Amino acid sequence: MKQVQEKISKLVSLLNKYSYDYYVEDNPQISDTEYDTLYKQLEKLEENHPEYILENSPTQRVGDRVLDEFEKITHKVPMLSLSNTFSTEDLRDFDARISKLVPDHSVEYICELKIDGLAISIKYEDGRLVSAATRGDGSIGEDVTENIKTIFSIPKVLKDNRTFEVRGEVYLPRKSFELLNSERESNNEVLFANPRNAAAGSLRQLDSKITAKRRLSAFIYSIVGDDSIVSQENALNTAKEYDLPVNPNFKLCKNIDEVIDYINYWTEHKKDLPYDIDGIVIKVNSYSTQEKVGYTQKSPRWATAYKFPEEELATKLLDVELSVGRTGIITPVAILDPIVISGSTVSKASLHNKDIIEELDIHIDDMVVVKKAGEIIPKVVRVVRELRTESSTKYVMPNTCPSCGQQTYTKENDPFTRCKNPDCPDQNIRRIIHFASRDALNIEGLGDKVVATLYEKGIIAHTIDLFSLEREKLISLDRMGEKSADNLLNAIENSKKSSLDKVIFALGILNVGKKAGKILAEKYLNLSNLMNATLDELVNLDDVGQITAESILDYLSDENNIKFINDLIKVGMNPQYEIQEVNTDNIFAGKTVVLTGKLVELTRNEAKEYLEKYGAKVTGSVTSKTDLVIAGEKAGSKLAKAEQLGIKVINEEEFANMVREVK
Ligand code: IVH
Repeated sequence: MKQVQEKISKLVSLLNKYSYDYYVEDNPQISDTEYDTLYKQLEKLEENHPEYILENSPTQRVGDRVLDEFEKITHKVPMLSLSNTFSTEDLRDFDARISKLVPDHSVEYICELKIDGLAISIKYEDGRLVSAATRGDGSIGEDVTENIKTIFSIPKVLKDNRTFEVRGEVYLPRKSFELLNSERESNNEVLFANPRNAAAGSLRQLDSKITAKRRLSAFIYSIVGDDSIVSQENALNTAKEYDLPVNPNFKLCKNIDEVIDYINYWTEHKKDLPYDIDGIVIKVNSYSTQEKVGYTQKSPRWATAYKFPEEELATKLLDVELSVGRTGIITPVAILDPIVISGSTVSKASLHNKDIIEELDIHIDDMVVVKKAGEIIPKVVRVVRELRTESSTKYVMPNTCPSCGQQTYTKENDPFTRCKNPDCPDQNIRRIIHFASRDALNIEGLGDKVVATLYEKGIIAHTIDLFSLEREKLISLDRMGEKSADNLLNAIENSKKSSLDKVIFALGILNVGKKAGKILAEKYLNLSNLMNATLDELVNLDDVGQITAESILDYLSDENNIKFINDLIKVGMNPQYEIQEVNTDNIFAGKTVVLTGKLVELTRNEAKEYLEKYGAKVTGSVTSKTDLVIAGEKAGSKLAKAEQLGIKVINEEEFANMVREVK
């Protein structure tokens, strides 16, 4: 008996720790499948020994704890979670249980995609969005109203003055996730492990300006507190009617066989969606049947979540390669015996840093389990210790740089291994590649391979050497004809005309991405001014924090860098930033304008740029401060709001006439 009690207590503390990592730290330590297996084990033990159920057992509460920084919002109707099912047998059991409870008629189900994001509740009062909260522990959530308001697809005002609460899932589309991570990578920031973590991290920003930049989306899947709604199908259609974002892939199924067909279809096609789903939610359609079937303490009996098996496969770790980035960070990459996971071949996987290597206890020749994190970036999740052979050897990150051989170093509380040799070949090559890359100076014909060849042949040693490239030397290279050589030389020459923001980004200063490049360009107007920047000035710039400011000063205090910038100026790269002239003597100047509906002649962006050029401020929502609304075709809630507030509304044609007058 003692043993059972101990086992229960162990499982409780383990599961609580994993929950904390998942919900509070946004840093899951085990897969959902592993968590669910442990959870089920605990449930079973508790079922047989209810006398040992602990108060803090995860089975006894709805969710997890609340972060401290946000205001709290109490959910009038608790936000429950769902029971999980993992197989068709589980689903048939679920159906059988329900049929038993409502034996008098056949049960219809609604199947929906289970969006992999985080649950949200949004309240509308008299047609206006008044508050939004995360799920929190199911009873109390965090007030994220301002952040939710930044989500484009969520209406701030409904088409009539209805009062209800809607619930749904906030998520980050895969494309936005990739974009966000590549921005973070170029700024040397820690990457998000998957779109769900990125969505959670983005929604839990105390500064909603940051959230606004993250391109979050949402799907609404339920309406609470509206007695006129009679079924889940009715709820989804009502939400749609109110322009709330409803996932279009839901399906009404007549029986459990149709549910299983739906699941099979999406198991096959989930990879084609632009966002991640981690299962299918199956709900009894009729509300009156839902009431009859009822609830357990923490979840409805009338619904369940079918979880897709996570694709994890074992393969052999052939080697660990080290890659040196332009800022000197050395990243270990696992070289794998190629395998196909979720439809694509995986031959490399990230090992992140020395701490992860140590934690996983990586040995060369080990069998390792590889998973597509968020189904995109493959990563090594564990080693199959049982299959370790004698020939396998423990991998230790070397303490010399694989490129230049110099001693590496690490910073306190930082797991990355770094090389600080300014003449390290790989760093030099990467810096030149960055300089020429699309978002920097966009030098066509100067891709990774050409840079590496030019460097290895000793034709260039530093970025500045690009500006003294000799045509003859270029032509002498394999696969470089006269035409390509001339094109390349022209592209390099043309790059001297790049705008200041691009040139600043191209320098490759740690933490200075595209956005910071622009901010610095606007402030300093040319390279010479930038070289005299002070810490005080820098930290006072919007979006430039202490860390970025320090790394800019670090960069600018290095003799090699000063010489490089002066050399750039000498070869003729000395852009002056032009501040856009704003015309202030016209009917749009100083006005706050909202664009809504579909414009025919112009794109929204063109209209926006035009208005801004003439001194107007273009905002996204209609408030009492709005002076003018330009309503295109099919304008919806914003038009209604403007009419309600008595704000001047014009159509596209009237706008075009005003534009002509201004010109
Ligand atoms: S219905 C009573 N429908 O999955 C619970 N949930 O535990 C009602 N989710 O916390 C939830 N897509 O965050 C529902 N179409 C969908 C969903 C969905 C994602 C999430 C939700 C919930 C979790 C289930």
